[in-house]
Amino acid sequence: MATHDVESKLEGEVYYPAAHIREQATIQDYDSLYQRSIQSPQEFWAERAEELEWFGKWEKVLDDSNPPFYKWFVGGQVNIVHNALDRHVKTWRKNKLALIWEGEPGDSRTFSYHALNREVCKFANVLRSMGVKKGDIVTIYLPRIPEQVIAMLACAKIGAAHSVVYGGFSVEALAERIEDAQSRVLITADGGWLRGKIVPLKETADEAMARQPTIETCIVVKRTGQEIYMEAGRDYWFHDLMALPIANQPCCTEPVDAEDPLFILYTSGTTGRPKGVVHTHGGYMVYVYTTLKYVFDLRDEDRWWCAADPGWITGHSYIVYGPLLLGATSFMYEGAPNYPYPNRWWRMIEAYGITVLYTAPTAIRGLMRYGDAWPNRHDLSSLRLLGSVGEPINPEAWRWYYTVIGKERCPIMDTWWQTETGGFLISPLPITPLKPGSATKPLFGIEADVVDEQGKPVPAGEEGYLVIKKPWPGMMRTILKDPERYKEQYWGKFGNMYQTGDSARKDKDGYFWIIGRMDDVIKVSGYRLGTAEVESALVSHPAVAEAAAIGLPHEIKGNAIYTYVILKAGVEKSEKLAEELRNHVAHEIGPIARPEQVTFVDSLPKTRSGKIMRRVLKARALGLPEGDVTTLEE
Ligand code: WTA
Repeated sequence: MATHDVESKLEGEVYYPAAHIREQATIQDYDSLYQRSIQSPQEFWAERAEELEWFGKWEKVLDDSNPPFYKWFVGGQVNIVHNALDRHVKTWRKNKLALIWEGEPGDSRTFSYHALNREVCKFANVLRSMGVKKGDIVTIYLPRIPEQVIAMLACAKIGAAHSVVYGGFSVEALAERIEDAQSRVLITADGGWLRGKIVPLKETADEAMARQPTIETCIVVKRTGQEIYMEAGRDYWFHDLMALPIANQPCCTEPVDAEDPLFILYTSGTTGRPKGVVHTHGGYMVYVYTTLKYVFDLRDEDRWWCAADPGWITGHSYIVYGPLLLGATSFMYEGAPNYPYPNRWWRMIEAYGITVLYTAPTAIRGLMRYGDAWPNRHDLSSLRLLGSVGEPINPEAWRWYYTVIGKERCPIMDTWWQTETGGFLISPLPITPLKPGSATKPLFGIEADVVDEQGKPVPAGEEGYLVIKKPWPGMMRTILKDPERYKEQYWGKFGNMYQTGDSARKDKDGYFWIIGRMDDVIKVSGYRLGTAEVESALVSHPAVAEAAAIGLPHEIKGNAIYTYVILKAGVEKSEKLAEELRNHVAHEIGPIARPEQVTFVDSLPKTRSGKIMRRVLKARALGLPEGDVTTLEE
């Protein structure tokens, strides 16, 4: 088959990291350490945990007495913020830069570890004075500004969990997350900058708070300065609170149990509402620390740029927690990659001397389309390593990233992982020979495999379900308020194996090639959305009776959303209505969910039990065979 020829050719295209990169790598021998981590995982993870500071040592590394509800570092007393900040301000790193930030309009701010810690302490005092405590979930809905990092760390410092809602999400997405978490406190901003325009976050927050009245206090960061509505007794300016005498009191870091929740992060799943994925202080801390250290080899002289948004797991683990745990210097940028010109990123790499860039294939494809002249105007020689995440990287984008951006000097770490996994699971190390499009091999302690419907490993080269066979410290613990769904969705199919929802192949060298989602999750520009969310947004419009959403391949975005809508009786089909529906979805969920196309139909392919067969819709749209349609009743 033609595609297989292409694939086996790719498997033979190997890039070897340069000697100076290999020689400096923290890990020099993958195989032996991997073997040891699999044979004695508890010993391996205990050693990693000992590299960090604990208030009280754990009694047991892993409690697997009640699978799939695994516990790590049981009985340990810790706080991730102690290791991310407090630990460093006691050393010379106190005066090292923790965060360098550039706003889209070109404004810039920097924070040393000392300064970041000071701001976090102040805001933690503010939250404490409002009665926020262990057991609470604070919702954070901010643009990509330093206050986002400060707010997250302040919550964690006092033992409260944060739930960050991506600033690109809109009313209904925010409202249902607030409701599920039962948040009393919301932190937002008057707006954020994107492509020269203001994203009106407070306006969206006001609408969401009207739908979900659990919020008692709304803290507003002034970013853009335009006039906004402030409700007396509910809304307070962040800068006013930070100026209160209480903010300047000393602030201790709350010791928490290793298994206490650090954050909830909502993500899309197969069905219905977004799931609140729960991560903890202890295991998550050890996992993100270890993976970032081994994969990107961060050193004190590095300037690390993870170009994600803190509102997604990539930002949680590798903008906020990972780099700070390692005492690294992190760069963060507020706005669009091509604003005002397509050299924005390349200019910043040169200006700030970025040494490691970690981004998504969609961004690479988006910037590649403007041609080589834009990056070639800049000195990118500070770069040492590159990274990719979020979706499979197509070989053309990989080669462009490797040659034009990395000048064939910088190996690309293609990291495969998920919101649920906390950190990288399958990824190269700086010593790993690379094949464009493959995330290469499982990291330490991770037993990954590709299996068939029965859970039996498939032969090399064959496609199957990607599973993880053993627990790891960074894994999600449960779905907030829905442990049954956690058990069912991740451990239901194969019993004792974690089901990722991805399909993959393993080649004869043991390299993993991720193919994509097998469920109704769509990756749009690397962002994760559920067909169910888009459908329910469409159905919430008064003209719509029924709706189906599917993802179809898109050159830049990876996938784009296509929707099929049955209108209510008597409603006229029109171009105008189609446009209105697209805007409605963007208003409810966010601009990333705006359907590429709305097609009006009279019926949808369904099973006899009434489930929409999206697979059939997809096959029809792509002109492919419809497959098994014996259960189809249209
Ligand atoms: C996909 C993002 C191929 C995959 C960190 C996974 C990838 C989903 C890669 C999780 C990669 C992530 N290669 N596919 N390097 N990284 N994915 O929860 O389908 O937003 O299941 O986490 O992204 O998306 P999530």
